[in-house]
Amino acid sequence: MATRVFRMREPAEREAGIEAAVAALAAGGLVGLPTETVYGLAADATSGRAVARIYDAKGRPSFNPLISHVESLEAAERHGVFGPAARRLAEAFWPGPLTLVVPRRPGSPIADLATAGLDTVGLRVPGNQVARALLARFGRPVAAPSANRSGRISPTSAEDVVAELGERVDVVLDDGPTPVGVESAIVACLGDDLQLLRPGGVARADLERVAGMPLLSGSAGADPERPLAPGLLASHYAPHARVRLDATGVEPGEALLAFGPAPPPGEPVAMRNLSPSGDLAEAAANLFRHLRELDAAGAAGIAVVPIPAEGLGEAIRDRLARAAAPRPAT
Ligand code: TXA
Ligand code: MG
Repeated sequence: MATRVFRMREPAEREAGIEAAVAALAAGGLVGLPTETVYGLAADATSGRAVARIYDAKGRPSFNPLISHVESLEAAERHGVFGPAARRLAEAFWPGPLTLVVPRRPGSPIADLATAGLDTVGLRVPGNQVARALLARFGRPVAAPSANRSGRISPTSAEDVVAELGERVDVVLDDGPTPVGVESAIVACLGDDLQLLRPGGVARADLERVAGMPLLSGSAGADPERPLAPGLLASHYAPHARVRLDATGVEPGEALLAFGPAPPPGEPVAMRNLSPSGDLAEAAANLFRHLRELDAAGAAGIAVVPIPAEGLGEAIRDRLARAAAPRPAT
C-alpha cells in the first residue's frame, strides 16, 4: 500500500494524521514519527510481529534493542524500575532528548523482540507535540529507532524518511525539520553507577549536574558480538562519501563540512557550515541534513573541520566518528 504523508502543521490535516497513525499502529503497521531529535520508525512495542517489521524495514541486526517511547514518567514506570538517580534524570529532562536504560519491570507487556531479549529496557518520553499526542491516543508504548536503513544517516525531515524507507512505512507524520538534530543521550541506570551509553541531545555536563555524580563512558560497542548499546556499532551514520575528520584543509575532489566563522581555505566540491557563529546546538540541528546534502553533491570525500568536544559537541563528534569509521562492504 502507498505511504500516506500527513502535514501536521496544517490544522486541517492534524487530526486525520493522528487517527491514521493510531490505526496503523493498532494494525501492526509502521509510522514515521517526528520527535525533537530525529524521525523515528514507530511500531506497537507490545507486538512482536509489529516490532519485527521495524527490523525488517531497517535491515537492522536483530540483536539491536529498540527504545520504547511513552507519554509520561508514570507510563514509563509500568515498564521499567526507576531508582533515585533515574527518577531525578527523568523528572529533569522528560519530555526531552534523553533515553534511560533501566531494569525491565516484570510483567511489562513490551515484546521481547523490542528489548532484544535483554532484562533491561530503554525508555524515553519525547518532547515533540505530535509524538506526545500520538502516544497519549495510542495508550501503549511505541518502539521507534531512527527511521533510516540500518547504518545510514538518521532522518531529520519527513522527506528523509520517505527517501530512506519508501513504501516500507505506512503513515508519515510530517512535522517539519527536527529541532535537536542528533539522537537522544542514552544513560544506563542499572546499579550504583550511571553510564553514558551514547552522547546525545542532552549534554553530559547537564546530566551530571542533575544526577549529582559523574557518568561513566559507555564501554558499549567494545564487543560487537554482544553490545550493551549496539547503536554504538563502529560504522554507523554512514554517508556514501568517505569522511575525513579534523581536517585543516580541503583536498581535491572533497566537499567541506565547516563549523565557525573561518572555514579552512580551498576549493571544495560543495560546502556546508554547521554553524557560522560556532553554536553547537545549531550545529547538531544541521548535522545530518548537511551530511546528506554533501553526500548528494557526489564528492568522493567529505572533509570535516575539528568540532569542539564540549556540550552537544560530544554527540556531534561521536556521530562524525561513526560516519568516518571503516565500514563493511555492502
Ligand atoms: O533520539 C532517539 O533516541 C531516536 C528517536 C527516534 O527517539 N531513536 C533512536 O533509536 O536513536 P535507535 O534505535 O536508532 O537507537 C537506540 C539505541 C541503540 O543504540 C540501542 O542499542 C540502545 O538505544 N538501546 C535500546 N535499549 C537498550 C537497552 N535495553 N540496553 C542498552 N541499549 C539499549
Ligand atoms: Mg539510529
